[in-house]
Amino acid sequence: MELRDIIISKKEEFFREHIMTDEFMDMLHKNMEPMKTLITYYKCAIMEIETKFKVLNEEFSLEYDRNPIESIKSRIKSTESLAKKVRDKNIPINIESIEENIHDIAGVRVVCSFPEDIYMLADCLLKQDDITLIEKKDYIKNPKANGYRSLHLIISVPIFLQNEKKNMKVEVQLRTIAMDFWASLEHKLRYKKKISDDIAAQLAYELKDCAEKSAQLDKHMQDIREQLSKLE
Ligand code: GTP
Ligand code: MG
Repeated sequence: MELRDIIISKKEEFFREHIMTDEFMDMLHKNMEPMKTLITYYKCAIMEIETKFKVLNEEFSLEYDRNPIESIKSRIKSTESLAKKVRDKNIPINIESIEENIHDIAGVRVVCSFPEDIYMLADCLLKQDDITLIEKKDYIKNPKANGYRSLHLIISVPIFLQNEKKNMKVEVQLRTIAMDFWASLEHKLRYKKKISDDIAAQLAYELKDCAEKSAQLDKHMQDIREQLSKLE
């Protein structure tokens, strides 16, 4: 690309980003209260889902003397990243459209020690009669080209308010400790701006290798756990 084209494309990028952000900010200002309410509903949905996982963890600990869940991390999407997603998806800028089209405003990440537990927990959650599965992406059986592995579920869960029941969408990501460790390292590479293409390609190659090795390690440790449990 010639310098002139780079400047034009950068100018366009800047323009798009800022115009859309202004429009989004305008929508936020006009809808302060409804937006606050919506975020609160998402927080409630996170609480519901976290509790469901904590209950399953307790039950397993009681019955089998082991905790399938290592940790649970939840988050509400930041305003900046919501604005960016609304812009990238090119959806109408209003609350209804955001609620309808953005599925990961509420996010719950469940980290397990063993891959088997991921599927066991996902099954237990999806079996519950108040949970509706909207979308499932199994990046463990089908890892991304860069090596990313996790099980993603978009689900809908009801929250019970004073006078109504409201179904809220939550993105649940289930992964092992090793997958989580890998994803956070890869995330650092993704957001490093001042890095040459050559170095980025080399690091991406090494990361992919790490992802494969760590998947083997996950599998190996799971096999050892199985052997141990047979001895008991
Ligand atoms: P977005 O939600 O717009 O990113 O696209 P999508 O709906 O196709 O999402 P997908 O289910 O593939 O991924 C959603 C989330 O999973 C992201 O926001 C990240 O948290 C995580 N994720 C997906 N792919 C990667 C990856 O390659 N590396 C890392 N570190 N995280 C990823
Ligand atoms: Mg998504």
